[in-house]
Amino acid sequence: MINKILTKLRTMSNGFNPRKYLAIEELELESSQNGMIYRLANREDIVQMLAIERDVYEGEVPWTFSHFDHEIVQSNQSFFMVAENEDGKVVAFIGLRLGQGLRINEAHITNIAVSSSVQRQGIASHMIQELVKIASHLGKEELTLEARRDNTLAQGLYRKQGFETKKILPSYYDDGGDAVLMGKSLKLAGLSDAPDEKEALDDQA
Ligand SMILES: CC(C)(COP(=O)(O)OP(=O)(O)OC[C@H]1O[C@@H](n2cnc3c(N)ncnc32)[C@H](O)[C@@H]1OP(=O)(O)O)[C@@H](O)C(=O)NCCC(=O)NCCS
Repeated sequence: MINKILTKLRTMSNGFNPRKYLAIEELELESSQNGMIYRLANREDIVQMLAIERDVYEGEVPWTFSHFDHEIVQSNQSFFMVAENEDGKVVAFIGLRLGQGLRINEAHITNIAVSSSVQRQGIASHMIQELVKIASHLGKEELTLEARRDNTLAQGLYRKQGFETKKILPSYYDDGGDAVLMGKSLKLAGLSDAPDEKEALDDQA
């Protein structure tokens, strides 16, 4: 609770407008697991997010400050969540877009990265599961994302989280690389706390 208030105060102090999240106010946006705190990103986090990019993309920053700034501060249809370790350092991020060129029932994961020092500990999986909860709560029926066709590691992560390949997008990236478009149905995601309803549906299948 204290963390939630601190997050709000921190974000309000740098121009971020928390009102854009009013629609999801009643949903718990903070979580913790294995010593990590997961919370909404704010403008102050972007410098650390760029450092994570440099770490995992060999010094490159595919997303610049202004890309992150657009999604975190300027757009009212997108946000980022970050994972903060016990020292208060941001070690991972994930972005979600809820509108802007998407189908009405679609939510889209825009970007995800986890610092190399803390990979393979379930952080990306946890962040995806948190976004599944948020998107389901908002009535979205499908979660989509693109991954580089040769990034089989990331595709393995997404498949484990229930995503399926929908199609190949040839020359999707600026350097000519292909992407795979992946999607996960959220239609049953909101039923995880309602076993009776889910069992009834399973029985009908
Ligand atoms: C892809 C990435 C986000 C995964 O983050 P993570 O926190 O390490 O992922 P998780 O610990 O939740 O891993 C879940 C599953 O993903 C797959 N996976 C993750 N890292 C892997 C690796 N190094 N080798 C093989 N499979 C891997 C595995 O199936 C893993 O399950 P397991 O550990 O039970 O075998 C991280 O490696 C990363 O930031 N990579 C660079 C940026 C990137 O490629 N982003 C994706 C753009 S589409």
